Amino acid sequence: MRTVFTNIKSLLQVRPKGQTILKGKDMAVLPAIDHAYLIIDDGVIKAYGKMEELTPEAKGPIIDLSGKYVLPSWCDSHTHLVYAGNREGEFIDRINGVSYEDIAAKGGGILNSAKRLQSASEEELYQQAAGRLTELIRQGTGAIEIKSGYGLSVEAEIKMLRVIKRLRTDYPVKIKSTFLGAHAVPQKYKQDQQVYIDLLMHEMLPQIAEEGLADYIDVFCEKGYFSAEDTKAILQAGATHGLRAKIHVNQFNSIGGVQVAVEHGALTVDHLEVMKDADFDSLQESETLPVALPGCSFFLGIPYSPVRAMISKGLPVAIASDYNPGSCPSGNMNLILSLACIKLRILPEEAINAATLNAAYAMGIEDTHGSITVGKSASLIITKEISTIGFLPYSYGSDLIDAVYINGDKIR
Ligand code: NIG
Ligand code: FE
Repeated sequence: MRTVFTNIKSLLQVRPKGQTILKGKDMAVLPAIDHAYLIIDDGVIKAYGKMEELTPEAKGPIIDLSGKYVLPSWCDSHTHLVYAGNREGEFIDRINGVSYEDIAAKGGGILNSAKRLQSASEEELYQQAAGRLTELIRQGTGAIEIKSGYGLSVEAEIKMLRVIKRLRTDYPVKIKSTFLGAHAVPQKYKQDQQVYIDLLMHEMLPQIAEEGLADYIDVFCEKGYFSAEDTKAILQAGATHGLRAKIHVNQFNSIGGVQVAVEHGALTVDHLEVMKDADFDSLQESETLPVALPGCSFFLGIPYSPVRAMISKGLPVAIASDYNPGSCPSGNMNLILSLACIKLRILPEEAINAATLNAAYAMGIEDTHGSITVGKSASLIITKEISTIGFLPYSYGSDLIDAVYINGDKIR
């Protein structure tokens, strides 16, 4: 259906076709049309411009947006949305002084979630994930990447990926799926980690590829999880099945994962709370996009990714939620935007670019999402009447969204 939005206070993130990724100082520029109109039809953006250029014969329902901003919906390029139950017990343990690492070392953490997921039915998992996704869409998320990685057996990893596939069919938002079998080593393989890696490469991967269940491959490259060598082998195996890498690196330690990612042409490297000079150097010479996850640093009380330094070195940056039960039990991208401004010290314009245009690139959907561009999906956030766009991240915790459109349909 055709809809004409008029008197938009400011239409944000207006980009020409083909504009894909923003680096360094370009991230502070957020092109906008003040006092604008926008026409959407058949689920896509048809036209926009200044109000005075709107021809009187523009047909379709007219929605007046005086005082309101319009921007493309959030792209959340890193989540673990499919999981069974929660881990608020570990949250209390951490309040009492036990560290995230200690919890994991005692069989909690990812292995705790894996135990719950293995005993949950596919239907239960689907229902839980669907509930979370419904909430996120209302909060303005129009595209989302979802990882496996709480299965850690052939059967349970495939169960998770099938849930993601079902969500993709049932929900209008764009969904990308990532195989993260290398999220943790199950207890029974702790004495011989290579046996698990072989299972992952020779049994999980071929089945997943055959069923077309994943778009990307991920590894948690970290001390106590998977080494840079393990990561290399797994990324190579992924590449033989046509899966490009988007990997977890440098959350607690810098152990060479950035270099492995860059060598393998990874699309993104995510987390990056701990960065050595060599890591900055590798990224500067690469096509790999850094993704910061400030919600994880906030929830765990760990350092934040040095995003200011990345931008000043001319790098591109995306931000994502990392929604998961252990290190960031929220997928609210509005909150992530605030955390990016407050804790990463980036400007509202930089944060919006990081959560839309660069985030779309981070999940390979830059042709259809991430900006107000003719032909792209009409997936939009319409704000309440606000003074400036900076008010959005400034008012952290407030709900300033008036309406959400996904592929041209009003869903809120
Ligand atoms: O991105 N760091 C690895 N994986 C998740 C957390 C997983 C969990 O604690 O369940 C993350 O933070
Ligand atoms: Fe993660």
